[in-house]
Amino acid sequence: MNSPANPLRICCIGAGYVGGPTMAMIAKQCPDIQVTVVDLNQSRIDQWNSDVLPIYEPGLKEVVEEARGRNLSFSTDVEGGIRGANMIFISVNTPTKTHGLGAGRAANLEFVEKCARRIAECSQGHKIVVEKSTLPVRTAEAGKRILRSSSSGATFDVLSNPEFLAEGTAVSDLLAPDRVLIGGESSEAIEQLAQVYERWIPRQKILTTNLWSSELSKLTANAFLAQRVSSINAISALCEATGADVDEVAKAIGSDSRIGPKFLKASVGFGGSCFQKDILNLVYLCQHFGLSEVAMYWEQVVKMNDYQKQRFSTRIIRTMFHTVSDKQIAIWGFAFKKDTNDTRESAAIYVCRDLLEEGARLVVYDPRVSEKQIRHDLEDVFKDSSLEVSQRHKRLIETNVSIASDAYQASEHAHAIAVMTEWDEFKKLDMKRVYENMYRPAFVFDGRNILDEAVLAKIGFEVHGIGRSNKFTN
Ligand code: UDX
Ligand code: ADP
Repeated sequence: MNSPANPLRICCIGAGYVGGPTMAMIAKQCPDIQVTVVDLNQSRIDQWNSDVLPIYEPGLKEVVEEARGRNLSFSTDVEGGIRGANMIFISVNTPTKTHGLGAGRAANLEFVEKCARRIAECSQGHKIVVEKSTLPVRTAEAGKRILRSSSSGATFDVLSNPEFLAEGTAVSDLLAPDRVLIGGESSEAIEQLAQVYERWIPRQKILTTNLWSSELSKLTANAFLAQRVSSINAISALCEATGADVDEVAKAIGSDSRIGPKFLKASVGFGGSCFQKDILNLVYLCQHFGLSEVAMYWEQVVKMNDYQKQRFSTRIIRTMFHTVSDKQIAIWGFAFKKDTNDTRESAAIYVCRDLLEEGARLVVYDPRVSEKQIRHDLEDVFKDSSLEVSQRHKRLIETNVSIASDAYQASEHAHAIAVMTEWDEFKKLDMKRVYENMYRPAFVFDGRNILDEAVLAKIGFEVHGIGRSNKFTN
């Protein structure tokens, strides 16, 4: 493969937050390799082919524009994509199951299995199938069995190549990853994929393992990262009670080289499509193997995160004289972190839910998240066990949620501001102007500790950050 007689042709199934940027980078770095990204979702594909990409990532547009039309294309022709390629990436979503066996913990593998069946149906000759989606350990084994059932006599090598990019920094993560992990049995297939990455990544950063180590490494990396956030968030509760400052504690412990400074930023809680899903996956796996203590250990990381989100809502309500009913609260940021338009599992969704239940009026502003997405997420979080949203909740969202076009507008006539996402623009606002247009006392609940508490207090705000007791109440 990838000889003049048989050049490498890549197809990626799934044009989402992982598939899109990863394939764009491969196409950019390897102009001689044809890369086709296919997806069932027509509007997503149309957006990838337009000037307004479906996902926001700093620097991504430039990468896509360089390669699109040259050796990168986006299409809904899944079958054609599979037929035309000799290396196929599976990069479809694997959300947590909402019903059935393992509901709430196990990953829903329906989309992955459908892809494997589709590949088996319409392939001929030999192909390398690369798992890019985050999967429970031993999924590759199931994939292999499905592929083996191909009636056309096609043969396959299956590789696991988990993605470690973080949203908001996808382009720089893809350009200079800490490592690339490739798991598999066939050293020839591993070598083919390694040669693609080697075009721009030093060979010593390309690690090879067996299939299951590779699959488990992805879950473990995310579990460890989430655990650090939950650990510092647990300490933030103690800081609020004792008068210590969590950012000072994080700095002090992070300068111990054995601990290190990263992923120690206390927050309103972690979100994103990976952390919770992957830990729950790990928990399910441990339970399956009868390792209940190990399962409980990791489950606590998610419980701590739920507690952190709920603690934040409760603090807002308690501080605002035990009621937020009919009070206007500006929600600054809705994405699960800055520099992305992704809202999956964003802490903002849960805090907004709690505040709405208490009768607050919310004015939401996020620089990248659309009104449609915000309303969709809020409806979703009110779904009951039969996945229905009550009329009361629908009405609540309709009447008590509005969307602002900037942070100033959101805080006009507000009783409080809740900072939910650490967007840089929130640090540069004229806070005097914000203060002027708010009710008194003007509360700020900084769920990301990005605003300068002393400066705000001087203006007149009452500021409550994560992991610090309020020192400046007027
Ligand atoms: C994560 C992993 O970092 C990445 O390697 C993997 O491929 C996918 O999952 P992502 O979810 O995109 O990436 O973002 P990440 O930067 O890890 O942040 C996850 C959440 O943790 C965010 O809500 C973020 O705000 C929060 N976080 C992160 C903190 O609250 N404090 C921190 O110190 C770091
Ligand atoms: P991730 O963050 O893992 O990239 P996304 O939800 O952003 O997840 O993207 C996954 C994409 O996979 C979606 O655009 C979805 O339409 C696509 N997809 C899911 N199942 C299939 C399938 N069987 N064939 C083609 N595309 C699929």
